[in-house]
Amino acid sequence: MSPSPPDAGGPADGPILVVDFGAQYAQLIARRVREAHVYSEIVPHTASASDLVARRPSGIILSGGPKSVNETPAPTIDPAIYDAGIPILGICYGAQLLTLQLGGEVSRTGRGEYGRTALTVTGSSPLFADWPGGGEVWMSHGDAITTVPSGFVATATSPDAPVAALHDAERAIYGVQFHPEVVHTERGRDVFERFLYDICHCPPSWTHTSIIESQVEAVRAQVGGSPVLCALSGGVDSAVAAALVHKAIGDQLTCVYVDTGLMRAHESEQVEETFRRQFHIDLVHVKAADRFFEALAGVTDPEAKRKIIGELFIRIFEEVARDLVIEEFDPDAASTGANGATGANGATGADGTGTSGEPSGYLVQGTLYPDVIESGSDSAATIKSHHNVGGLPDDLAFDLVEPLRLLFKDEVRAVGEELGLPHDIVWRQPFPGPGLAVRIVGEVTPERADILRAADAIVVEEIRRAGLYRDLWQSFAVLPAVRTVGVMGDGRTYAYPVVIRAVTSDDAMTADWARLPYDLLERLSSRIINEVEGVNRVALDITSKPPGTIEWE
Ligand code: XMP
Repeated sequence: MSPSPPDAGGPADGPILVVDFGAQYAQLIARRVREAHVYSEIVPHTASASDLVARRPSGIILSGGPKSVNETPAPTIDPAIYDAGIPILGICYGAQLLTLQLGGEVSRTGRGEYGRTALTVTGSSPLFADWPGGGEVWMSHGDAITTVPSGFVATATSPDAPVAALHDAERAIYGVQFHPEVVHTERGRDVFERFLYDICHCPPSWTHTSIIESQVEAVRAQVGGSPVLCALSGGVDSAVAAALVHKAIGDQLTCVYVDTGLMRAHESEQVEETFRRQFHIDLVHVKAADRFFEALAGVTDPEAKRKIIGELFIRIFEEVARDLVIEEFDPDAASTGANGATGANGATGADGTGTSGEPSGYLVQGTLYPDVIESGSDSAATIKSHHNVGGLPDDLAFDLVEPLRLLFKDEVRAVGEELGLPHDIVWRQPFPGPGLAVRIVGEVTPERADILRAADAIVVEEIRRAGLYRDLWQSFAVLPAVRTVGVMGDGRTYAYPVVIRAVTSDDAMTADWARLPYDLLERLSSRIINEVEGVNRVALDITSKPPGTIEWE
């Protein structure tokens, strides 16, 4: 089977399908496959064999999972897939499942293996072509394969896994008990490469250049000649999405950047510099700080703040969008680019008019692959509820353009670099939609926002200087609503403390407080107190998540 080159606009030919049996194993496997330059997608284990075959996969990987195959109910896969002539690799739970479904035995031996384990290769397997003797692997299993199904041979063993690898070469069905996707497995990458290149015959053609090329094509085909809007936040996802869409359709794209007065230091200048001056993107910079501070005056409840900011953002974006879509729409330009595509909301995007005859347009959103997987459907194009531009009114007749919806975060960053976005934007730590407001406990005023912004800029600068910025998930300053007594020079002070919050995390679902070096903390403390007027004390937040959250509000 020889797959055609991947098409990021919706590959119909040749992806590696990674079947998800729960936990996070599938995502990591899918990333490893892509790191080998082969396009992969995650599919639920409930998909029928005919659904899977219809995707014309070059290969299927059955992932690990948190359950035991002998539990009832335990997730399974439609066994017809084993007869479809598609190469299959089962990993851990996946290996045990295919063993059981094909007539072998999986037993509770009473001695599982967890962590680093020595693997001994005992037979000839194309998976171990680079690794004939075996070596250190990562195991995590309570059950073990004890009898291989008919037609299979065992090819490796470990102290407590009599069958640590097996295959039926005729049907191209392979299984490994260990986890090749984790970095602790010495030659895990080789195992994937042998499966992908030698068994599935996939070409290593999924590259950042190919992602950009195929997305440029897909965006052009989707939007035709219609106007396209993108809300820039200063963050990496919207920046990469905008740069990619701009590469596809040039000045059909208008970016809108709303300065809420709650942005980080120099963020607005950097957005201007990058998008207007470097990329020559049509940028509408709305300076709306006064409106936000006015709406937030006297408000101290965290949820009320979020709601006010979200609603005002939408109102402002809507004002700009309505003007742009109506005034800038050019029906002549649209008709030449029309492709007849009908958008999700029923508006015909290609000719630039909605079903009601109202001008329609497209809205770029930086949705990433993990959001798509988590939404449970790869066709759902719902606007994230927590996103700033959520809930745009229907009569604007926007359809979504989501050029990053097949990409993991690390791929988005690589694409951003390839498109020439500055390092600072591409590697920027996450920043919440409501901005500094959720880090200002109590009332949000222009003065308090200035204090926090100045302290935060020092935190970011020193963390960068210490070479820790990329290692930390987030590192920032928080402004509590109390004041404390201090003494500076000859005088008594009564001013705010600033709290330093720095966390490590993989996905923001859980986080640990970062053990910052003492000398860095000392520099942070003395610089913040000396340089930021209104602050006379610095504290460190040593709370993990759970029980704390990353942000203070
Ligand atoms: P928490 O504070 O819940 O934050 O541990 C988890 C992650 O989400 C970010 N965050 C937000 N992002 N709008 C956003 O776009 C929000 O309202 C929001 N609140 C929190 C936070 O920065 C962290 O990365």
